[in-house]
Amino acid sequence: MNLALIRATLLVLLLLAAPLWAEGDPDRGEALAYSCLGCHGIEGYRNAYPSFRVPKLGGQKAEYLAAALRGYRAGERQHGTMQGQAVSLSDQEIDDLAAYFARFPNETIAAGGEPAPPFDKAATCVACHGPNGIGVQPAWPTLAGQHEDYLEHSLRQYRDGVRKNALMMPMAAGLSDADIKALAAYYAGMKGLTTTTKRD
Ligand code: HEC
Ligand code: HEC
Repeated sequence: MNLALIRATLLVLLLLAAPLWAEGDPDRGEALAYSCLGCHGIEGYRNAYPSFRVPKLGGQKAEYLAAALRGYRAGERQHGTMQGQAVSLSDQEIDDLAAYFARFPNETIAAGGEPAPPFDKAATCVACHGPNGIGVQPAWPTLAGQHEDYLEHSLRQYRDGVRKNALMMPMAAGLSDADIKALAAYYAGMKGLTTTTKRD
């Protein structure tokens, strides 16, 4: 095969591959989110063991939310409760839920997206998570305003190889417990994600 043919074949394969995310319908997502808010909609609601607050979803990137749900559904990202929540969701339902949670205003953006004071330990993180903790790509999560103990939990999971991701595992590999605590406190202290509560 010549190079042009290889390129053309690759392009066709790329086009055939199912897209990871499509624009969802936030109104349908709102109806589906009712049960999710039993945990994600209660400020400070905790995962029992290990104990950490369930992540804030309001204002998170839609594409990241959808990827996370697909990860739980496929069993690639492990958490018993969330795998149980995601297992019966269709692709459309996942995209609708993602569109719903992403629709909430993100406080950093509302505040004009001002960069936080620089922090040396976060010097490498800004390339992907932004100077204000907002993910710079649609599939890269916003960290600003996320619960401190959830951020700690996530970083430990990447470091210990429990949560697998090709970009994050090497980033977390060299972090000490003290680094993880400092980074989690730094991002949690920024304005950003919100807890979305049930509408009355
Ligand atoms: C019983 C409580 C509970 C319910 C109900 C629940 N979740 Fe979760 N959710 C959690 C916990 C705890 C985590 C963190 C799990 C982990 O460590 O991976 C989580 C994680 C997530 C994440 C990953 C967030 C991130 O920043 O990576 C998404 C997305 C999510 N949940 C969406 C949903 C949706 C959508 C529903 C409803 C269909 C739902 N959850 C229902 C407890 C719950
Ligand atoms: C090369 C890009 C890149 C760099 C650099 C990077 N990250 Fe990430 N980060 C990602 C991606 C992509 C994800 C989502 C991975 C997944 O789906 O599990 C992520 C996920 C995370 C999460 C989990 C968020 C959640 O809601 O569950 C935390 C916490 C995090 N990163 C912190 C950091 C910190 C702290 C640094 C610097 C030490 C850093 N990252 C550097 C790309 C990056």
